[in-house]
Amino acid sequence: MAYILGEREFWGLPFKVSPAVLVPRPDSETIIEAALALLADHARSWRLLDLGLGSGCLLLTLLHEFRAARGVGLEVSEDALAVARTNAAALKVGDRAELLLGDWRRPGWRDRLGGPFDLLVSNPPYIEAAAIAGLMPEVSRFEPKLALDGGPDGLAAYRAIATEAPRLVVPGGRLLLEVGEGQAPEIYKIFQSTGFTAEAPWKDLGGIDRVVSLKY
Ligand SMILES: C[S@@+](CC[C@H](N)C(=O)[O-])C[C@H]1O[C@@H](n2cnc3c(N)ncnc32)[C@H](O)[C@@H]1O
Repeated sequence: MAYILGEREFWGLPFKVSPAVLVPRPDSETIIEAALALLADHARSWRLLDLGLGSGCLLLTLLHEFRAARGVGLEVSEDALAVARTNAAALKVGDRAELLLGDWRRPGWRDRLGGPFDLLVSNPPYIEAAAIAGLMPEVSRFEPKLALDGGPDGLAAYRAIATEAPRLVVPGGRLLLEVGEGQAPEIYKIFQSTGFTAEAPWKDLGGIDRVVSLKY
């Protein structure tokens, strides 16, 4: 329905969507809730990074809430990036957002991002590749595979992010990562030897551990 209408609300804000982007989910608002609680001074000029922009719903909502913050976003799909840029302009946060084309599977992907950042957020693809065909048809047939496919065990993107996270986040800074149901313990394990300290996960409205929080 969102693809037909071309728009979906997220955190009370209108986001343009196209078949190149994941439709923003209420579950992903858990990241916004956590960020607002953890970065308590909402007027500070926080530096934010979003890996896997899609529509831009995470980074752009955070820039809308944190009025002095600046943000960088990375996205591998040119078509998705174009949607995120349209949304940045419509929400009037484009002057504080640097939205870049890039791929965390490629060596050196971190180099152009700048930083380090106070907060890194990501809702990466986390579905096990073999499970995608069995998802609801409105997801498996219409949403972009790039936004869903997390590799054989669903965790490929978290491993890529974990490799570079210590160079992307300031000491005392945070990582907020959306995860699939039941994945939180595995994600904490991936980050065990990276210098990040595990914090309690944030639950979505269904009571599921949805966002892993890690402090550097
Ligand atoms: C699950 S979607 C999340 C989109 C948006 N952040 C949200 O919460 O609705 C994951 C996004 O990551 C992007 N992505 C997938 N693999 C990537 C990669 N290797 N490098 C950069 N972005 C990637 C996808 O194209 C997709 O837009």
